[in-house]
Amino acid sequence: MTRTWLVTGANRGIGLEYVRQLAAAGQRVIATFRDREAAQQLSALASKYPGRVRLETLDVADAVSLVAFVQRLGDEAVDVLVNNAGLYGGSWTSDAPRQSSEGMDYALWEEILRVNTIAPFRLTVALRANLRGSAQPLVVMMGSELGSISANTMGQSHAYRSSKAALNMVMKGLSIDLVGEGIAIVSMAPGWTRTDLGGPAATWCVDESVAKQLDVIAGLGPVDTGRFLNLLGEDVAW
Ligand SMILES: NC(=O)c1ccc[n+]([C@@H]2O[C@H](COP(=O)([O-])OP(=O)(O)OC[C@H]3O[C@@H](n4cnc5c(N)ncnc54)[C@H](OP(=O)(O)O)[C@@H]3O)[C@@H](O)[C@H]2O)c1
Repeated sequence: MTRTWLVTGANRGIGLEYVRQLAAAGQRVIATFRDREAAQQLSALASKYPGRVRLETLDVADAVSLVAFVQRLGDEAVDVLVNNAGLYGGSWTSDAPRQSSEGMDYALWEEILRVNTIAPFRLTVALRANLRGSAQPLVVMMGSELGSISANTMGQSHAYRSSKAALNMVMKGLSIDLVGEGIAIVSMAPGWTRTDLGGPAATWCVDESVAKQLDVIAGLGPVDTGRFLNLLGEDVAW
């Protein structure tokens, strides 16, 4: 079944790989990016799959950009919204000191909350009508096991962890608010993945991570709304 997917932060990392795999599988993708200069691989995919990959600019943390994007989308139905755009503030392996008890960068923390927590909420509610245009709409919040409170045994990464824990709360709340509209919503922990954010020592290569996430997503339905899942389809402890 061909569905229309909307993937934010699609110019690199996990988002780019979603577009690559979805387009190759014959799906339609609206792929968003902030900076055309940094979106050359995405542009190449759009050229390779004309009519299947549509490119749109969107800075998810900028209300003006978000409203303009939603207006450009008009009444186009969206089957799956993947709120993927996210920020650590560099790489998990090398930039953790900026989020430590000793060296917290408070401006960075605010930016992380804007991108990782507030923006997915704002975009999801702005696209309610587009999602209602789908026979079985689904929203995927790109969460993280670092957002699990019970799995936090290492401390550190306070800004990122808190943004993803709060994202889970937003997801859970929206799953209740939107159930009457038939919109299902989940958080997906993609696993520690080798991207700019995850760093080179991460467990998963990006194509494996995304292939497994897509397998999980393919099996999701309304009954799954409100779940926090990992790339193997297992529930992650809050
Ligand atoms: N990699 C991992 O190990 C891992 C683990 C758990 C969760 N995640 C989550 O997975 C998602 C993707 O991460 P990744 O590893 O692919 O990271 P990445 O390689 O650093 O890519 C991040 C993407 O988010 C975009 N982005 C950041 N701020 C944005 C904004 N204000 N507006 C629009 N786009 C913005 C970036 O765009 P620019 O190129 O313009 O900066 C880029 O496309 C994130 O939500 C991350 O938290 C990743």
